[in-house]
Amino acid sequence: MADYDVIIIGGGLGGYVCAIRAAQLGLKTACVEGRGALGGTCLNVGCIPSKALLHASHAYHEATHDFARMGLVGNAPKIDFPAMLAYKDSIINQNTAGIEFLFKKNKVDYIQGWAKITGKGEITVGDDAHTARNIVIATGSEPSHLAGVSVDETQVVTSTGALSLPKIPKSMVVIGAGVIGLEMGSVFARLGTDVTVVEFLDAITPGMDGEICKTFQRSLKKQGLKFILGAAVQSVEKLKTKTKVHYKLRKDDSEAMLEAEVVLVATGRKPFTDRLGLDEIGVAKTPQGQIVSDHGKTSVSGIWAIGDVTTGPMLAHKAEDEGIAVAESIAGQQGHVNYDIIPGVIYTTPEVASVGLTEEALKQQGRAYKSGKFNFMGNARAKTVFQGEGFVKILADAETDRILGCHVMGPAAGELIHEVCVAMEFGASAEDLARTCHAHPTFSEAMREAALACGDGAIHA
Ligand code: FAD
Ligand code: NAI
Repeated sequence: MADYDVIIIGGGLGGYVCAIRAAQLGLKTACVEGRGALGGTCLNVGCIPSKALLHASHAYHEATHDFARMGLVGNAPKIDFPAMLAYKDSIINQNTAGIEFLFKKNKVDYIQGWAKITGKGEITVGDDAHTARNIVIATGSEPSHLAGVSVDETQVVTSTGALSLPKIPKSMVVIGAGVIGLEMGSVFARLGTDVTVVEFLDAITPGMDGEICKTFQRSLKKQGLKFILGAAVQSVEKLKTKTKVHYKLRKDDSEAMLEAEVVLVATGRKPFTDRLGLDEIGVAKTPQGQIVSDHGKTSVSGIWAIGDVTTGPMLAHKAEDEGIAVAESIAGQQGHVNYDIIPGVIYTTPEVASVGLTEEALKQQGRAYKSGKFNFMGNARAKTVFQGEGFVKILADAETDRILGCHVMGPAAGELIHEVCVAMEFGASAEDLARTCHAHPTFSEAMREAALACGDGAIHA
């Protein structure tokens, strides 16, 4: 038995970051992970492998579509799919090994196995018991089930199966036009799969800025993705070499069917707390199974929760920020996460990124605001990379000019958004951004132009 100041259960982005910060703050720290590798969903079967495949498939698309337009002619590359998967796996391994190195460097004990909380300040991992003054639950999430659809990770897959398919399918039905559905749908569409996305709601990417949703869908359609919106999937039938997806159109209850080689179920994720022993020790959960937490504190003192297993967006950087905040709180500091300024990014091409309030939310709140918009068509650098179709929209308070939100669809949107995150953290006005010199020629100039559009007007519009 070993005794610790803090034991973290789960070595994902939330858990491992919390462990490193706790150790840096002088706490005796252990992190328990059951999957045999650190990095959680994100590094093993989420953010990183999906971005590797997005990168490889985008490079293929550029080589086959854009190179000739730039005078680069010659043999187009062919796809060696097993080699592409091996590249993805090598990136995973480099990153997970990197976390083990960071644990050693920071003197975090890495305990391998599945943990169960057996009492206040007590856990077991297999036959071993450990004690700690603080336990942090960072056990993450797993794909939600869809009634009538049984996942076998071969013909009917979640994102985990989709990241390791043995070959590129000829056709794929993606259930759910959320982040996973569109990122993985893009990967396979670029590799030649006939992709149809079936979405329950009447728009893709629910919760995003409405104007972005429409423009983004148009862009994905041009890339070959097909969409059936307002359709509820009823069941998936598995035959020997194909599947049949039965769905109902919500507007008239009519039934229809689609055939595909592979079905990707991407209808959301749910918190993972199996066999943790939470009910026995009385940790409160929401009806959806999320652990209720107030700045990381659960209903039981000495037990904390962070990341996907709690409420809020299921994002790696949100989990990381909560991990740091909880480590700081345990060490007696004022751990804090600003939930109003958590960016969201979709890593398709074009990328989509947003932070703060949408126009829809501002209207609902009855708040007076102004909107400054700038199309990437007016940005010279965007045109050089054939990505002039998106825009930047900055929303600012009508009276004070304080930035309230920003929504971007375009090149490097996932990088550009952080300029506004920093500005918002400092309580900046749109004018502050507009008066900041931006290097030319950069995509970032579009951010400044949108800020200018909140005032006297953009220059290149
Ligand atoms: P996890 O990363 O899920 O880690 C939890 C860990 O706890 C797991 O490794 C699990 O094995 C372990 N565990 C569970 N129970 C126990 C136990 N009892 N004992 C020991 N160990 C246990 N987010 C982004 O921000 N950007 C992206 O680009 C992005 N892409 C994604 C792509 C896909 C395909 C998916 C599925 C998700 C993606 N996400 C992305 C979401 C992101 O992966 C999660 O928000 C993030 O991993 C949450 O971190 P976490 O630490 O809370 O949980
Ligand atoms: P999601 O919540 O983003 O999207 C699920 C979609 O499925 C919704 O549009 C929903 O309306 C639809 N849906 C639900 N039931 C349906 C049905 N019966 N028929 C048709 N459509 C249905 O969930 P997703 O894409 O599975 O992602 C899970 C989590 O992973 C998200 O919370 C996301 O934050 C995270 N993630 C983040 C990424 C990023 O930050 N780039 C990338 C991938 C995942």
